[in-house]
Amino acid sequence: KASFEKIAEQNGVQIKFLETKLNQDTVELAKGFDGVCIFVNDTANAQIIDKLHELGVKFIALRCAGFNNVDLAAAEKAGIQVVRVPAYSPHAVAEHGAALLLSLTRHIPQAYLRTKTVNFNIEGLTGRDLFGLTAGVFGTGKIGQCMADILKGFGMKVICYDPFPNEKWAKEKGFSYVDIDTIFKESDVLSFHCPLTDETYHIVNHDNMKKMKSDAVIINTGRGALIDTKALVHALKHKHIGGAALDVYEEESDIFFEDNSGHIMEDDTLARLISMPNVIVTSHQAFLTEEALENIAETTVN
Ligand code: NAI
Repeated sequence: KASFEKIAEQNGVQIKFLETKLNQDTVELAKGFDGVCIFVNDTANAQIIDKLHELGVKFIALRCAGFNNVDLAAAEKAGIQVVRVPAYSPHAVAEHGAALLLSLTRHIPQAYLRTKTVNFNIEGLTGRDLFGLTAGVFGTGKIGQCMADILKGFGMKVICYDPFPNEKWAKEKGFSYVDIDTIFKESDVLSFHCPLTDETYHIVNHDNMKKMKSDAVIINTGRGALIDTKALVHALKHKHIGGAALDVYEEESDIFFEDNSGHIMEDDTLARLISMPNVIVTSHQAFLTEEALENIAETTVN
């Protein structure tokens, strides 16, 4: 809000901030506005888009990169323009992915909790060198490329998968493209940076996780539904993989960004996941840096 207020005022754009998410129950609130500005967990399906059109809304501005929550065909049909922020800080997301990776492999959350309670025991905190391990980067767009650079910096061998490979970039960096099978089989760290599409929905499933090394870890800062979460819980429980660090979750829309600490968790899958010592969950905050927020506001207002 703070980032938007400043830049909107400078550009003479009027914004009304609403706490609620866009969905079937709230769409009426868009009445009288030229556009709606939404984020990752708002819904813009065909029904809502038709209603927006009926209310005279002319554009949907996503203040994020991913646009899987918008029915683009319905928007085109309704004559509603859709804009997004294709790049605000790929570094923000990749750096968060790296933070999650190190936290997971070096047990930083456990160590933090121990020392906060004056417990300086290091039993059970044995980690793993990343140096020399193989990192798989799934999706080599803006964020995937930043992540690959960071992982290379740790001294990891980087292999990549992307249906639209950027061979020139890979050759310059000393990375190689492999097929889906190989990236699941050979990665010690597998990090997801592709958009959520029909092809990538539940790409992390029983079959693909069976191919993975039993100590391999999955990092997901992409979109929750890239992972079949129930299959992930199964794989972790049976030690088919070594761990997971997730900034996104397929059922996050009713949970993330809210303080649920006073309530009993209704989502058994998420409850099971966060109970595991080799799982870290953050609440879709990979984008959340000062630089990224400023860029998001500036691009959206422009
Ligand atoms: P980008 O568009 O620059 O790159 C996406 C890459 O994925 C492209 O190279 C594309 O060829 C590749 N791709 C497309 N289909 C694929 C498939 N079936 N399998 C593997 N790769 C495929 O996008 P960018 O900026 O790198 O962002 C990637 C994703 O990260 C976004 O789509 C979004 O869902 C997510 N994201 C998450 C954030 C967070 O806060 N956790 C913040 C920003 C983005």
